[in-house]
Amino acid sequence: MDFNTTAGAAASGTRFEGGDPRVDRRLATWVNTLTAPVNTSATASSYGPSMQLTADPKPNLEPIARRPMSNVNNNVNNNGNNNGNTDTNPNASSRTSGNANANSVALVVGATGKTGRRVVERLRARGIETREASRSGSTRFDWNDRGTWAPALEGANLAYVTYSPDLAVPEAVPAIRAFARLAAEREIERLVLLSGRGEEEAQRCEEIVRETNPRWTIVRASWFSQNFSEAFLLEPLRHGVLALPAGEIPEPFVDANDIADVASRALAEEGHEGEIYEVTGPRLLTFAQATQEIAAATKRDIRYEQVPVDVFVEGMRGHGIPSEIVSLTRYLFETVLDGRNAQTADGVRRALGRAPRDFSEYVRNTASTGVWAEPASAAV
Ligand SMILES: NC(=O)c1ccc[n+]([C@@H]2O[C@H](COP(=O)([O-])OP(=O)(O)OC[C@H]3O[C@@H](n4cnc5c(N)ncnc54)[C@H](OP(=O)(O)O)[C@@H]3O)[C@@H](O)[C@H]2O)c1
Repeated sequence: MDFNTTAGAAASGTRFEGGDPRVDRRLATWVNTLTAPVNTSATASSYGPSMQLTADPKPNLEPIARRPMSNVNNNVNNNGNNNGNTDTNPNASSRTSGNANANSVALVVGATGKTGRRVVERLRARGIETREASRSGSTRFDWNDRGTWAPALEGANLAYVTYSPDLAVPEAVPAIRAFARLAAEREIERLVLLSGRGEEEAQRCEEIVRETNPRWTIVRASWFSQNFSEAFLLEPLRHGVLALPAGEIPEPFVDANDIADVASRALAEEGHEGEIYEVTGPRLLTFAQATQEIAAATKRDIRYEQVPVDVFVEGMRGHGIPSEIVSLTRYLFETVLDGRNAQTADGVRRALGRAPRDFSEYVRNTASTGVWAEPASAAV
Protein backbone atom coordinates (compact mmCIF):
# COMPACT_ATOMS: atom_id res chain seq x y z
CA MET A 1 0.00 0.00 0.00
CA ASP A 2 1.00 3.59 -0.42
CA PHE A 3 1.33 4.79 3.12
CA ASN A 4 1.85 8.36 2.08
CA THR A 5 -1.59 8.63 0.56
CA THR A 6 -3.54 7.02 3.35
CA ALA A 7 -2.52 7.25 6.96
CA GLY A 8 0.05 9.95 6.39
CA ALA A 9 -2.32 12.04 4.34
CA ALA A 10 -5.00 11.60 6.91
CA ALA A 11 -2.57 12.68 9.57
CA SER A 12 -2.03 15.92 7.75
CA GLY A 13 -5.75 16.35 7.20
CA THR A 14 -5.19 16.98 3.52
CA ARG A 15 -7.73 14.45 2.34
CA PHE A 16 -10.59 15.40 4.56
CA GLU A 17 -13.43 16.42 2.35
CA GLY A 18 -16.34 17.47 4.43
CA GLY A 19 -18.99 15.31 6.08
CA ASP A 20 -20.67 15.70 9.44
CA PRO A 21 -19.94 19.32 10.45
CA ARG A 22 -19.25 18.29 14.04
CA VAL A 23 -16.64 15.88 12.80
CA ASP A 24 -15.21 18.51 10.47
CA ARG A 25 -14.71 20.63 13.53
CA ARG A 26 -13.13 17.85 15.57
CA LEU A 27 -10.76 17.04 12.74
CA ALA A 28 -9.96 20.68 12.21
CA THR A 29 -9.14 20.89 15.90
CA TRP A 30 -6.76 17.99 15.55
CA VAL A 31 -5.14 19.43 12.45
CA ASN A 32 -4.81 22.73 14.27
CA THR A 33 -3.07 20.88 17.04
CA LEU A 34 -0.62 19.52 14.53
CA THR A 35 0.00 22.79 12.81
CA ALA A 36 -0.07 25.11 15.81
CA PRO A 37 3.67 25.04 16.39
CA VAL A 38 4.42 26.17 12.84
CA ASN A 39 1.41 28.37 12.09
CA THR A 40 0.79 30.39 15.21
CA SER A 41 2.70 32.76 17.36
CA ALA A 42 3.49 29.78 19.57
CA THR A 43 6.00 28.66 16.92
CA ALA A 44 8.35 25.76 17.43
CA SER A 45 9.55 27.19 20.70
CA SER A 46 6.32 26.12 22.33
CA TYR A 47 7.54 22.56 22.09
CA GLY A 48 10.94 23.22 23.53
CA PRO A 49 12.53 24.37 26.72
CA SER A 50 12.42 27.95 25.52
CA MET A 51 8.67 28.30 26.05
CA GLN A 52 8.06 31.75 27.46
CA LEU A 53 5.66 32.30 30.30
CA THR A 54 4.44 35.84 30.36
CA ALA A 55 3.68 36.21 34.05
CA ASP A 56 5.40 35.51 37.33
CA PRO A 57 6.65 31.95 37.05
CA LYS A 58 6.68 31.56 40.84
CA PRO A 59 3.23 32.46 42.14
CA ASN A 60 2.88 32.86 45.86
CA LEU A 61 1.54 29.62 47.26
CA GLU A 62 0.59 30.99 50.65
CA PRO A 63 -3.08 31.52 49.82
CA ILE A 64 -3.45 27.83 49.09
CA ALA A 65 -2.57 26.87 52.62
CA ARG A 66 -4.64 29.66 54.11
CA ARG A 67 -7.68 29.38 51.99
CA PRO A 68 -10.68 28.15 53.97
CA MET A 69 -12.52 25.18 52.57
CA SER A 70 -15.93 24.14 53.73
CA ASN A 71 -15.78 20.41 53.24
CA VAL A 72 -13.65 17.99 55.12
CA ASN A 73 -11.39 16.38 52.60
CA ASN A 74 -9.83 13.29 54.04
CA ASN A 75 -10.22 11.20 50.95
CA VAL A 76 -7.72 8.51 50.35
CA ASN A 77 -6.93 7.97 46.72
CA ASN A 78 -6.88 4.61 45.06
CA ASN A 79 -3.16 4.27 45.54
CA GLY A 80 -3.85 4.13 49.23
CA ASN A 81 -2.24 7.50 49.94
CA ASN A 82 -3.88 10.22 51.88
CA ASN A 83 -3.96 13.25 49.64
CA GLY A 84 -2.96 15.47 52.50
CA ASN A 85 -5.96 17.74 52.32
CA THR A 86 -7.52 17.82 55.71
CA ASP A 87 -9.02 21.27 55.79
CA THR A 88 -11.84 21.13 58.28
CA ASN A 89 -12.92 24.75 58.55
CA PRO A 90 -16.69 24.37 58.98
CA ASN A 91 -17.42 28.09 58.71
CA ALA A 92 -16.00 28.78 55.33
CA SER A 93 -18.39 29.56 52.55
CA SER A 94 -18.03 27.67 49.32
CA ARG A 95 -19.97 27.37 46.12
CA THR A 96 -19.20 23.66 46.23
CA SER A 97 -20.07 22.90 49.80
CA GLY A 98 -21.97 19.77 48.99
CA ASN A 99 -22.83 19.61 45.34
CA ALA A 100 -22.16 22.37 42.85
CA ASN A 101 -25.12 24.68 42.49
CA ALA A 102 -26.56 27.49 40.44
CA ASN A 103 -23.82 29.80 41.70
CA SER A 104 -21.11 27.52 40.37
CA VAL A 105 -19.14 28.44 37.29
CA ALA A 106 -17.07 25.78 35.56
CA LEU A 107 -14.05 26.62 33.44
CA VAL A 108 -13.69 23.91 30.79
CA VAL A 109 -10.26 24.01 29.16
CA GLY A 110 -10.37 22.33 25.78
CA ALA A 111 -14.11 22.89 25.56
CA THR A 112 -14.27 22.25 21.83
CA GLY A 113 -12.44 18.94 22.15
CA LYS A 114 -13.66 15.38 22.33
CA THR A 115 -14.14 15.33 26.09
CA GLY A 116 -14.50 19.05 26.77
CA ARG A 117 -17.60 19.59 24.72
CA ARG A 118 -19.24 16.56 26.34
CA VAL A 119 -18.35 17.86 29.78
CA VAL A 120 -19.89 21.21 28.86
CA GLU A 121 -23.12 19.50 27.76
CA ARG A 122 -23.37 17.59 31.01
CA LEU A 123 -22.62 20.50 33.29
CA ARG A 124 -25.15 22.67 31.49
CA ALA A 125 -27.75 19.94 31.84
CA ARG A 126 -27.13 20.17 35.58
CA GLY A 127 -27.70 23.91 35.48
CA ILE A 128 -24.06 24.78 36.02
CA GLU A 129 -22.74 27.75 34.11
CA THR A 130 -19.82 26.84 31.89
CA ARG A 131 -16.98 28.87 30.55
CA GLU A 132 -15.84 27.30 27.29
CA ALA A 133 -12.14 27.87 26.98
CA SER A 134 -9.72 27.17 24.16
CA ARG A 135 -7.89 29.14 21.51
CA SER A 136 -11.09 29.38 19.47
CA GLY A 137 -13.59 29.05 22.32
CA SER A 138 -15.90 31.76 23.62
CA THR A 139 -13.41 32.22 26.47
CA ARG A 140 -9.97 32.63 25.01
CA PHE A 141 -7.42 30.32 26.58
CA ASP A 142 -4.09 29.31 25.13
CA TRP A 143 -1.62 27.06 26.89
CA ASN A 144 1.09 28.97 25.03
CA ASP A 145 -0.10 32.36 26.25
CA ARG A 146 -0.22 32.55 30.01
CA GLY A 147 -1.80 35.96 29.84
CA THR A 148 -5.06 34.25 28.85
CA TRP A 149 -5.21 32.03 31.93
CA ALA A 150 -6.14 34.42 34.74
CA PRO A 151 -9.03 36.09 32.87
CA ALA A 152 -10.41 32.66 32.04
CA LEU A 153 -10.24 31.63 35.70
CA GLU A 154 -11.85 34.81 36.97
CA GLY A 155 -15.10 34.03 38.75
CA ALA A 156 -14.96 30.28 38.15
CA ASN A 157 -14.95 27.82 41.04
CA LEU A 158 -14.74 24.54 39.12
CA ALA A 159 -12.25 23.56 36.43
CA TYR A 160 -12.00 20.72 33.94
CA VAL A 161 -8.49 20.75 32.52
CA THR A 162 -7.28 19.11 29.33
CA TYR A 163 -3.81 19.93 28.10
CA SER A 164 -3.03 20.08 24.39
CA PRO A 165 -1.43 18.49 22.55
CA ASP A 166 -0.70 15.95 25.28
CA LEU A 167 0.51 15.85 28.88
CA ALA A 168 3.44 13.78 27.61
CA VAL A 169 5.15 16.72 25.85
CA PRO A 170 7.97 18.33 27.84
CA GLU A 171 6.38 21.74 28.23
CA ALA A 172 3.27 20.28 29.84
CA VAL A 173 4.95 20.05 33.25
CA PRO A 174 5.81 23.76 33.64
CA ALA A 175 2.50 24.78 32.13
CA ILE A 176 0.44 22.54 34.40
CA ARG A 177 2.50 23.63 37.42
CA ALA A 178 1.91 27.31 36.71
CA PHE A 179 -1.76 26.81 35.87
CA ALA A 180 -2.47 24.64 38.91
CA ARG A 181 -0.90 27.23 41.20
CA LEU A 182 -2.87 30.01 39.61
CA ALA A 183 -6.08 28.00 39.91
CA ALA A 184 -5.36 27.34 43.57
CA GLU A 185 -4.71 31.03 44.20
CA ARG A 186 -7.99 31.90 42.60
CA GLU A 187 -11.39 30.56 43.51
CA ILE A 188 -11.09 27.08 42.03
CA GLU A 189 -12.53 24.68 44.57
CA ARG A 190 -12.56 21.54 42.48
CA LEU A 191 -10.17 20.73 39.66
CA VAL A 192 -10.50 17.68 37.43
CA LEU A 193 -7.46 16.86 35.29
CA LEU A 194 -7.72 14.63 32.23
CA SER A 195 -4.64 12.46 32.12
CA GLY A 196 -3.31 9.61 30.01
CA ARG A 197 -2.84 6.06 31.17
CA GLY A 198 0.66 4.63 31.17
CA GLU A 199 2.37 7.96 30.50
CA GLU A 200 5.08 8.76 33.00
CA GLU A 201 5.09 12.42 32.00
CA ALA A 202 1.34 12.68 32.45
CA GLN A 203 1.68 11.23 35.90
CA ARG A 204 4.21 13.92 36.77
CA CYS A 205 1.53 16.46 35.87
CA GLU A 206 -0.96 14.59 38.04
CA GLU A 207 1.44 14.84 40.98
CA ILE A 208 1.75 18.57 40.48
CA VAL A 209 -2.01 18.99 40.54
CA ARG A 210 -2.30 16.78 43.62
CA GLU A 211 0.34 18.79 45.47
CA THR A 212 -0.99 22.15 44.40
CA ASN A 213 -4.76 21.97 44.46
CA PRO A 214 -6.68 21.02 47.57
CA ARG A 215 -9.52 19.28 45.79
CA TRP A 216 -8.38 17.42 42.78
CA THR A 217 -9.71 14.48 40.84
CA ILE A 218 -7.65 12.74 38.18
CA VAL A 219 -9.37 11.05 35.25
CA ARG A 220 -6.65 8.85 33.79
CA ALA A 221 -7.92 7.56 30.49
CA SER A 222 -7.01 4.81 28.05
CA TRP A 223 -7.23 5.44 24.29
CA PHE A 224 -10.52 7.03 23.37
CA SER A 225 -12.96 5.17 21.13
CA GLN A 226 -13.69 8.55 19.54
CA ASN A 227 -10.18 8.60 18.06
CA PHE A 228 -11.77 6.42 15.37
CA SER A 229 -14.40 9.00 14.49
CA GLU A 230 -13.38 12.43 15.75
CA ALA A 231 -9.63 12.41 15.29
CA PHE A 232 -6.85 11.16 13.13
CA LEU A 233 -8.14 7.61 12.62
CA LEU A 234 -11.30 8.83 10.87
CA GLU A 235 -9.93 9.60 7.43
CA PRO A 236 -8.14 6.30 6.82
CA LEU A 237 -11.27 4.44 7.94
CA ARG A 238 -13.38 6.39 5.47
CA HIS A 239 -10.91 5.45 2.76
CA GLY A 240 -11.02 1.79 3.73
CA VAL A 241 -7.56 1.12 5.15
CA LEU A 242 -6.39 1.86 8.65
CA ALA A 243 -2.62 1.56 8.58
CA LEU A 244 -0.99 1.88 11.98
CA PRO A 245 2.06 0.63 13.87
CA ALA A 246 -0.17 -0.62 16.70
CA GLY A 247 0.70 -4.31 16.50
CA GLU A 248 -1.11 -7.03 18.37
CA ILE A 249 -1.25 -5.21 21.68
CA PRO A 250 -4.88 -4.87 22.75
CA GLU A 251 -6.27 -1.67 24.25
CA PRO A 252 -9.39 -1.16 26.39
CA PHE A 253 -10.75 1.77 24.36
CA VAL A 254 -12.80 4.11 26.54
CA ASP A 255 -15.83 6.04 25.38
CA ALA A 256 -15.39 9.83 25.67
CA ASN A 257 -18.97 9.91 26.95
CA ASP A 258 -17.89 7.88 29.96
CA ILE A 259 -14.96 10.22 30.53
CA ALA A 260 -17.33 13.17 30.43
CA ASP A 261 -19.79 11.43 32.76
CA VAL A 262 -17.00 10.84 35.28
CA ALA A 263 -15.48 14.31 34.94
CA SER A 264 -18.78 16.17 35.17
CA ARG A 265 -19.88 14.18 38.17
CA ALA A 266 -16.56 14.78 39.89
CA LEU A 267 -17.00 18.51 39.30
CA ALA A 268 -20.64 18.73 40.25
CA GLU A 269 -20.91 16.37 43.18
CA GLU A 270 -18.93 15.96 46.33
CA GLY A 271 -17.19 12.70 47.16
CA HIS A 272 -14.74 12.48 44.27
CA GLU A 273 -11.96 14.64 45.65
CA GLY A 274 -8.63 12.86 45.98
CA GLU A 275 -9.62 10.10 43.57
CA ILE A 276 -7.64 8.83 40.63
CA TYR A 277 -10.17 7.29 38.29
CA GLU A 278 -8.45 5.05 35.81
CA VAL A 279 -11.08 4.88 33.11
CA THR A 280 -11.15 2.25 30.38
CA GLY A 281 -13.69 0.37 28.35
CA PRO A 282 -14.85 -3.04 29.58
CA ARG A 283 -13.00 -5.06 26.93
CA LEU A 284 -9.61 -5.32 25.28
CA LEU A 285 -9.41 -5.05 21.50
CA THR A 286 -6.54 -4.84 19.07
CA PHE A 287 -6.72 -2.08 16.48
CA ALA A 288 -7.38 -4.79 13.89
CA GLN A 289 -10.36 -6.07 15.89
CA ALA A 290 -11.66 -2.53 16.40
CA THR A 291 -11.42 -1.98 12.64
CA GLN A 292 -13.31 -5.23 12.01
CA GLU A 293 -16.13 -4.07 14.27
CA ILE A 294 -16.38 -0.79 12.39
CA ALA A 295 -16.33 -2.62 9.04
CA ALA A 296 -19.12 -4.96 10.17
CA ALA A 297 -21.29 -2.14 11.53
CA THR A 298 -20.89 -0.05 8.38
CA LYS A 299 -21.11 -3.08 6.06
CA ARG A 300 -18.00 -1.80 4.35
CA ASP A 301 -14.74 -3.43 3.36
CA ILE A 302 -12.39 -1.68 5.77
CA ARG A 303 -9.17 -3.38 6.73
CA TYR A 304 -6.43 -2.87 9.23
CA GLU A 305 -2.86 -2.90 7.98
CA GLN A 306 0.18 -3.11 10.20
CA VAL A 307 3.00 -0.72 9.28
CA PRO A 308 6.42 -0.44 10.89
CA VAL A 309 6.60 2.53 13.22
CA ASP A 310 9.53 3.98 11.24
CA VAL A 311 7.47 3.97 8.05
CA PHE A 312 4.56 5.56 9.87
CA VAL A 313 6.52 8.41 11.37
CA GLU A 314 8.47 9.01 8.17
CA GLY A 315 5.10 9.32 6.41
CA MET A 316 4.10 11.97 8.94
CA ARG A 317 7.36 13.84 8.39
CA GLY A 318 6.81 13.66 4.65
CA HIS A 319 3.55 15.52 5.16
CA GLY A 320 5.17 18.33 7.05
CA ILE A 321 3.93 17.35 10.48
CA PRO A 322 6.13 19.02 13.12
CA SER A 323 8.86 16.82 14.51
CA GLU A 324 7.53 17.22 18.05
CA ILE A 325 4.20 15.68 17.03
CA VAL A 326 6.03 12.97 15.09
CA SER A 327 7.99 12.17 18.27
CA LEU A 328 4.82 12.17 20.32
CA THR A 329 3.20 9.76 17.89
CA ARG A 330 6.19 7.44 18.03
CA TYR A 331 6.06 7.58 21.81
CA LEU A 332 2.34 6.75 21.86
CA PHE A 333 2.73 3.73 19.60
CA GLU A 334 6.06 2.44 20.91
CA THR A 335 5.72 3.16 24.60
CA VAL A 336 2.13 3.76 25.65
CA LEU A 337 0.99 0.85 23.47
CA ASP A 338 3.73 -1.56 24.54
CA GLY A 339 1.35 -3.67 26.60
CA ARG A 340 1.49 -1.68 29.84
CA ASN A 341 -2.16 -0.69 29.42
CA ALA A 342 -3.41 -4.01 28.16
CA GLN A 343 -5.82 -4.50 31.01
CA THR A 344 -9.11 -2.96 31.97
CA ALA A 345 -9.58 -0.77 35.03
CA ASP A 346 -12.56 0.02 37.24
CA GLY A 347 -12.58 3.85 37.23
CA VAL A 348 -15.92 4.22 35.49
CA ARG A 349 -17.61 1.82 37.87
CA ARG A 350 -16.03 3.40 40.93
CA ALA A 351 -17.07 6.89 39.88
CA LEU A 352 -20.49 6.16 38.43
CA GLY A 353 -21.58 2.86 39.91
CA ARG A 354 -22.12 1.31 36.50
CA ALA A 355 -20.18 -0.54 33.83
CA PRO A 356 -18.37 1.43 31.13
CA ARG A 357 -19.89 1.59 27.67
CA ASP A 358 -18.69 -1.17 25.38
CA PHE A 359 -16.85 -0.42 22.14
CA SER A 360 -19.69 -2.10 20.22
CA GLU A 361 -22.16 0.47 21.57
CA TYR A 362 -19.88 3.27 20.44
CA VAL A 363 -19.50 1.67 17.00
CA ARG A 364 -23.23 1.11 16.60
CA ASN A 365 -24.12 4.67 17.54
CA THR A 366 -21.33 6.20 15.49
CA ALA A 367 -21.99 4.09 12.38
CA SER A 368 -25.58 5.32 12.39
CA THR A 369 -24.36 8.91 11.94
CA GLY A 370 -22.77 7.99 8.59
CA VAL A 371 -19.42 9.40 9.59
CA TRP A 372 -17.55 6.33 8.35
CA ALA A 373 -19.16 6.42 4.90
CA GLU A 374 -16.80 6.16 1.95
CA PRO A 375 -15.95 9.63 0.64
CA ALA A 376 -17.66 10.43 -2.65
CA SER A 377 -14.33 11.01 -4.38
CA ALA A 378 -13.12 7.51 -3.48
CA ALA A 379 -16.35 5.82 -4.56
CA VAL A 380 -16.15 6.87 -8.21
N1 LIG B 1 -7.21 10.75 22.55
C1 LIG B 1 -6.89 9.84 23.43
O1 LIG B 1 -6.98 8.65 23.17
C2 LIG B 1 -6.41 10.27 24.79
C3 LIG B 1 -6.21 9.30 25.78
C4 LIG B 1 -5.81 9.70 27.05
C5 LIG B 1 -5.61 11.05 27.32
N2 LIG B 1 -5.81 11.96 26.33
C6 LIG B 1 -5.57 13.38 26.62
O2 LIG B 1 -6.68 14.14 26.26
C7 LIG B 1 -6.25 15.50 26.09
C8 LIG B 1 -7.00 16.10 24.94
O3 LIG B 1 -8.36 16.13 25.29
P1 LIG B 1 -9.50 15.91 24.22
O4 LIG B 1 -9.21 14.68 23.44
O5 LIG B 1 -10.80 16.05 24.91
O6 LIG B 1 -9.28 17.19 23.28
P2 LIG B 1 -9.09 17.19 21.70
O7 LIG B 1 -10.28 16.56 21.06
O8 LIG B 1 -7.72 16.70 21.41
O9 LIG B 1 -9.18 18.74 21.40
C9 LIG B 1 -8.20 19.63 21.88
C10 LIG B 1 -8.88 20.77 22.64
O10 LIG B 1 -7.89 21.61 23.21
C11 LIG B 1 -7.94 22.90 22.56
N3 LIG B 1 -6.56 23.32 22.35
C12 LIG B 1 -5.66 22.90 21.44
N4 LIG B 1 -4.50 23.55 21.60
C13 LIG B 1 -4.67 24.40 22.62
C14 LIG B 1 -3.86 25.36 23.26
N5 LIG B 1 -2.61 25.60 22.85
N6 LIG B 1 -4.35 26.05 24.30
C15 LIG B 1 -5.63 25.85 24.72
N7 LIG B 1 -6.45 24.95 24.17
C16 LIG B 1 -5.99 24.25 23.12
C17 LIG B 1 -8.73 22.71 21.30
O11 LIG B 1 -9.47 23.86 20.93
P3 LIG B 1 -8.80 25.06 20.07
O12 LIG B 1 -8.30 24.48 18.81
O13 LIG B 1 -9.94 26.02 19.91
O14 LIG B 1 -7.73 25.65 20.92
C18 LIG B 1 -9.71 21.63 21.74
O15 LIG B 1 -10.77 22.20 22.48
C19 LIG B 1 -4.74 15.46 25.90
O16 LIG B 1 -4.11 15.94 27.06
C20 LIG B 1 -4.46 13.97 25.76
O17 LIG B 1 -3.22 13.63 26.28
C21 LIG B 1 -6.21 11.62 25.09
